Amino acid sequence: MAKVAVVLVAAGRGERAGGAVPKQYVPLLGKPVLRWTAEAFAGLVIQPVVGTRDEAAFGAAMAGLKTLTPVAGGPTRQHSVMHGLEALIAVKPDFVLIHDAARPLVSPALVDGVVAALEAGADAAVPLLPVADTLRKQENGKWVGVTRDRLMRAQTPQGFRFAKILAAHRDHKALALTDDMALAELAGLDIVVVPGEETNLKITTAKDFAMAEQLLSARLGDTRTGLGYDAHRFAPGDHVWLCGIKVPHTHALEGHSDADAGLHALTDAILGAIGAGDIGQHFPPTDERWRGAPSWKFLDHAAGLVRDKGGAVTHCDVTLICERPKIGPHREAMRARIAEILKLEPERVSVKATTTEGMGFTGRQEGLAAQAIATVRLP
Ligand code: CTP
Ligand code: MG
Repeated sequence: MAKVAVVLVAAGRGERAGGAVPKQYVPLLGKPVLRWTAEAFAGLVIQPVVGTRDEAAFGAAMAGLKTLTPVAGGPTRQHSVMHGLEALIAVKPDFVLIHDAARPLVSPALVDGVVAALEAGADAAVPLLPVADTLRKQENGKWVGVTRDRLMRAQTPQGFRFAKILAAHRDHKALALTDDMALAELAGLDIVVVPGEETNLKITTAKDFAMAEQLLSARLGDTRTGLGYDAHRFAPGDHVWLCGIKVPHTHALEGHSDADAGLHALTDAILGAIGAGDIGQHFPPTDERWRGAPSWKFLDHAAGLVRDKGGAVTHCDVTLICERPKIGPHREAMRARIAEILKLEPERVSVKATTTEGMGFTGRQEGLAAQAIATVRLP
């Protein structure tokens, strides 16, 4: 099998889209553009090319995803691609796919189509789309017609025989071309055209975010909800773990793992939404591996199962039921921690608390309980 690597160029500033962070870090349905894009290439070796000012944003957006160590971008897209290609020399791929981070809607079918064309012998395989609108250009103050029959729009991923596109880049360093097909053309490579996809939008201006979100939303048309509940008994100790945060307390919570009832309820909610059983099936309390385990691992596992289905957790709400410890002072930290584990915007995570007015086991402070609900979108 041919070895396929991906250069994912994400070093642009996104000037036309504006905003506080470059467009590739803006969330769509709670997940950064770049992460949607990278997940579309799951299973392939990914070489990210990242702006030097964006290392922290990159780390946050890509947490938990396996890629090669990112390399720094250059002043133009062409330079950035070149940096990625040079870094891939160590990997020695047969083929390389070069893709814009700003195209999060690329489909597995398009990726497969480009790779298939390369496997069939092409030096280069490029997705092109016809132009539907009538075109005009301005000439001497007049709008004149342009024949559109022979015009096509070029998309990415553009695929190449690695050694050939690397050589083409090295031979034309002084240019600033906006795609790699142009370099393939200059180098005289044999280029095969594959049909592009209307939905493979390149986010360019601010209005494209709403469009991309609508397209993703339509793709993840199956909305599911799951419910979780958990309770743990208090035991001697001086802190409890709740929603991934260590909270000082007069007691600890008893359990096989760290007894984080909040994360356990949430893990069960996510498992419930995808019909994947419950936390006890995935992490049996009889298994020594999970003794004292931090519960973020359980939540991360459940979120991973959703991702494996091509889906996303888009919202969750946790209610902690206890008289004490007081949750208020820790609530924002809990939201942020859950958001971090689920790779979701904090705005899509809710943590609430209630007492039971002194009634029942939580009222008597024998233990505490947690409820959670999670919304999952699946293709
Ligand atoms: N890109 C890059 N390095 C650059 C310029 C662009 O890696 N010096 C990447 C962008 O991050 C993007 C892709 O190339 O994923 C396509 O470029 P474009 O859509 O033009 O993105 P930006 O350059 O970021 O946007 P703008 O031109 O509006 O500033
Ligand atoms: Mg640009």
